[in-house]
Amino acid sequence: MPVPGRGPRAALRNERFRKLYCALALSSFGDWLGFLATTALATQLVDTFASKAYATGGVLVFRLLPAVLFGPLAGAYADRWDRRRTMVTCDVIRFGLFLSIPLVGSVTTRNTALLYLLAASFLIETASLFWIPAKEASVPNLVPREQLEGANQLTLIATYASAPVAAAVFAFLSLLSRWLGSGVEYFRTGPVDLALYVNAATFLFAALTVYRLDLPSPKVADRPVGQAPPTIFHSLREGLSFMGRTPLARGLLVGMLGALAAGGAIIALGKLFAESVLAGGDAAYGLLFGSIFLGIAAGVALGPKALGDLSRRRVFGPSIVGAGASLIFMSLVPNLFLATLATFFVGAFAGVAYVVGITLLGLEIEDELRGRMFGLVQSLMRIDLLLVTAVTPFAAGLIGTRSIGLPGDGPAVISINGVSVVLFVGGLLGVVVGIVSFRQMDDRRGVSLRSDLLRRLRRAPDRGDYPGTFVALEGGEGGGKSTQLRLLEAWLAERGHEVVVTREPGATAAGARVRALLLDPAAQLSPRAEALLYAADRAQHVAEVIRPALRRGAVVVTDRYVDSSLAYQGAGRELEAADVAKLSRWATGGLVPDLVVLLDVDPVVGLARAGSEPDRIEAESLAFHERVRQGFLDLAESDPDRYLVVPADQPVQVVQEALRTRLAALLPAPLLTRA
Ligand code: TYD
Repeated sequence: MPVPGRGPRAALRNERFRKLYCALALSSFGDWLGFLATTALATQLVDTFASKAYATGGVLVFRLLPAVLFGPLAGAYADRWDRRRTMVTCDVIRFGLFLSIPLVGSVTTRNTALLYLLAASFLIETASLFWIPAKEASVPNLVPREQLEGANQLTLIATYASAPVAAAVFAFLSLLSRWLGSGVEYFRTGPVDLALYVNAATFLFAALTVYRLDLPSPKVADRPVGQAPPTIFHSLREGLSFMGRTPLARGLLVGMLGALAAGGAIIALGKLFAESVLAGGDAAYGLLFGSIFLGIAAGVALGPKALGDLSRRRVFGPSIVGAGASLIFMSLVPNLFLATLATFFVGAFAGVAYVVGITLLGLEIEDELRGRMFGLVQSLMRIDLLLVTAVTPFAAGLIGTRSIGLPGDGPAVISINGVSVVLFVGGLLGVVVGIVSFRQMDDRRGVSLRSDLLRRLRRAPDRGDYPGTFVALEGGEGGGKSTQLRLLEAWLAERGHEVVVTREPGATAAGARVRALLLDPAAQLSPRAEALLYAADRAQHVAEVIRPALRRGAVVVTDRYVDSSLAYQGAGRELEAADVAKLSRWATGGLVPDLVVLLDVDPVVGLARAGSEPDRIEAESLAFHERVRQGFLDLAESDPDRYLVVPADQPVQVVQEALRTRLAALLPAPLLTRA
């Protein structure tokens, strides 16, 4: 069902999200810059090669440690504290810490400066740990449901695309200050200090932006009066037991960890793989490394669009199977080109799984548990990555390279390489994890995945399992729908189709009574009551008239359907479009027309034609009818494949001809000539 405004661009039109997003993009950039600067600083503070390596490693360990120690705890606090205040506080703390590193460095010995750097790294990461779940849990409250996926795409792109930008800026700052430093003493340590100041500034900016943002705080479940608030450990336990009980949460978690492990394995083993299997050098490694990130970017940026209207719960598991299968393929082919291609696909599938996973977590986990979920996810993901990068090279080394002679006579030998074996096993695990996730989360049991995918490949809408054809005629008042409908009916019958012409509201006996109420100028209906009544009429209509006819193979043409509710109750009454869409989806069991014809008419003209005794809806203001018209046009624009827009101010025959031409392409071959 077309819902107006999905995707990243629609999410950005949302002002509150846009503000948060700017702050976030900037502080991600700052974060990477800070990361480069702190590791560079660590190497500057010591002299020998070995101690440089230890110092850099130290910074890395101190940044990873907090997540392992208390990631889930941070998540639990995101559900207890005001999330906006948490974010602002963390940003201010990070601002102060980044600012203090160069300042402390300038007044102490190098050893003290190094110790301070490690401590500050630990604290900065701890602050980020509290910040991330608060942010992740807030995004779903800032954008309407249908825009969450787009919002997540943007967030992920900003988080990772800012890394190369930061690297380029850092390199530029280094060159600049080396050039300046030949003259001015201050710039000797310039790039690092400068980067740290820039970084501090980005956090200050983020703090200010979030501070001014109007963010709903988490709903805390009602507690009987007098009962003490649960302790933090209690709420942590509650989060964990929720995970254990909920197949969706479990499936998502297992799946995301699997996808990450597949990508991590390539990064960890890439160098060895390039050398020992591909017999290549740094260039080959660079190629693999680059293509996995390119793949992730492509998956995140293009995946959701490619998935279209496929159920996200359904495609999550298969995308992990895809990542695993690509990894297996890579482990089997000792060829640089194919390996690079496979690596790209590992990244792309993992990227899709990542966006889809985060979006499902945001959509389907209740607000009050969301912080705990994201907290757990972030720390498990880091542990996952740590384990994979530590264990896989070790395992590959243990297996080593060996040749095994095959039994029987002849010189048949298999040569085995530890790296390939580990990648192969990793890919196999990915496939298994993907299948398990799919089993736990699938929401369309009974419809085969294959038929869903084929339908998507053909770009056909979800037709359901019926042989008939379903057409809806839509538009404002006085567009001439009834005339067109009569002409269309005659034409279809002549071609030998069983035709069912019907309308909303009021095509059934029950519906007729609902209709009387809906159109009675004396009835006082609230917008929500009105929306529910139209939906009730529609539910009856679908069950009693439309579905049975489609099952018989009839061509059903209805005067108005779901889009009327989206335009009149959504755009006209200004109810949330997503709510109205959801209501209709529920009422119709997801039945969507194969074609929607919009007879577009200027309300000034249309209302004049509509007659002297206006019903309750016709009696609405001109502004209302203008909004309705725009609502229809927006719907048509959002799904051009399924809409035909015809200006209704043309001669009747011209309109009819346009209709027939489009319908002819849709209909099964005429029955009369087939006989
Ligand atoms: P009707 O007399 O059937 O209208 P028309 O000839 O204009 O098609 O009246 C239906 C009215 O109900 C019309 O003004 C549009 C309105 N309507 C909604 O507001 N929401 C809906 O979901 C539907 C089906 C109709």
